[in-house]
Amino acid sequence: MDHDIERILISREQIAARVHELAGEIVVSYPNLHDRITIVTILSGSIIFLADLIRQMPIKMEIGLITVSSYSGATTESRGARLMKDLNVDIRDRDVLIVDDIFDTGGTLRLVKGLLEERRPRSLKTAVLLRKRAKNPPDVSVEFVGFDIEDRFVVGYGLDFNDQYRNCPHIAVLKPEVYATG
Ligand code: IMP
Ligand code: MG
Repeated sequence: MDHDIERILISREQIAARVHELAGEIVVSYPNLHDRITIVTILSGSIIFLADLIRQMPIKMEIGLITVSSYSGATTESRGARLMKDLNVDIRDRDVLIVDDIFDTGGTLRLVKGLLEERRPRSLKTAVLLRKRAKNPPDVSVEFVGFDIEDRFVVGYGLDFNDQYRNCPHIAVLKPEVYATG
């Protein structure tokens, strides 16, 4: 795996420090928590971020899962977000926090926010580990961002290329020949 990596953009130590800060920022934004928050995790890229984030959020919560897909196979070209599996919890009147790995063209978050808003949550906020500012559309907003990064296809810490490299502990860019061949 290491052999395929061209450059580490964000190290595991930098991620750990920022995720710790982010957890604090999120918790203080819920001063009058009514009951518990419902975290809606967008699978599969968010799993590692979610696991690290929630263990540093000492508030009551439940976890819901939703699956959205915008890439299939060995590609770095988004084909538009599609709902693959709907949420497994009821969010009506809940304080909902969407957790996603990366905010790029915004197609995924536009789809998920639209779906969740229709179900009348009490509040709806979004946290992403990474944001590529180059393509973010103005109609999709996120409250919590870990890092702004350049417009490169990245892997690691849950993010994949062709379903691989999710276990890389850093955020990294692969060598061009790996993207070319898959
Ligand atoms: P968007 O719908 O274009 O905003 O992209 C969001 C989804 O595409 C993310 O949840 C990721 O799963 C995937 N994605 C976007 N950029 C990257 C990347 O650089 N590496 C890996 N996955 C990405
Ligand atoms: Mg994703």
